[in-house]
Amino acid sequence: MAQITKDLYQFSIKIPFGDSNFTLHQYLPLSEEPVLIATGTMEHAENILPDIKKLLNGKELKYIIFPHFESDECGGLPVFLKEYPDVVTICSNLSTRELPGFGYKGKIETKGQNDTLLGDGFSFKFINYPSEVHLQDGIVFYEENRKIFFSSDLMLRFGYGRNQVIDSSWKQEVDNINTQVIPNENRLNILKKNLSSLDPDFIAVGHGYCINCNPN
Ligand SMILES: [Fe+2]
Ligand SMILES: [Fe+2]
Repeated sequence: MAQITKDLYQFSIKIPFGDSNFTLHQYLPLSEEPVLIATGTMEHAENILPDIKKLLNGKELKYIIFPHFESDECGGLPVFLKEYPDVVTICSNLSTRELPGFGYKGKIETKGQNDTLLGDGFSFKFINYPSEVHLQDGIVFYEENRKIFFSSDLMLRFGYGRNQVIDSSWKQEVDNINTQVIPNENRLNILKKNLSSLDPDFIAVGHGYCINCNPN
């Protein structure tokens, strides 16, 4: 566990990937209503649960937000549901339909483009991101109070990124998203347009190095 910026905690695991490493991150912005961003795989969730319980110091986990249906993003949901049976899972329309088919019995709330989630200590705004299976919409999200964008699989880099922050700019990072990441030009352009209206100070990436958008 690392305190990556202000009151944002990062949990990481490194996996080998060819000649390089690939890092998976989850996040917990501390607030009165605790929110976990992505669960990690089931194994990772079991590993990070003790740290999360320590950070929450007796508080219940209120929300889990995950970007799309994949093991590193939501595989650990059952681990957290067992510990926090009232937790509300926030996810895309497609993930909402998928989860019950995998036996998930927890509360689920669907979010998509321009939806918000307001709570004591956070204000999330959701943006569609065609990251679900068959290029359906998943979500990415921006926490407006802290000016932190949670980029999931966008803006990722290889290497061991635990507690590592690099400098870049929001414009550069949005410009860098290409058809390798979203293989449909129209959908790619819509996403870029939606992202360009945001102004984050910090990008909490799903993989690799976090990004300081306003260095100096
Ligand atoms: Fe993914
Ligand atoms: Fe991912």
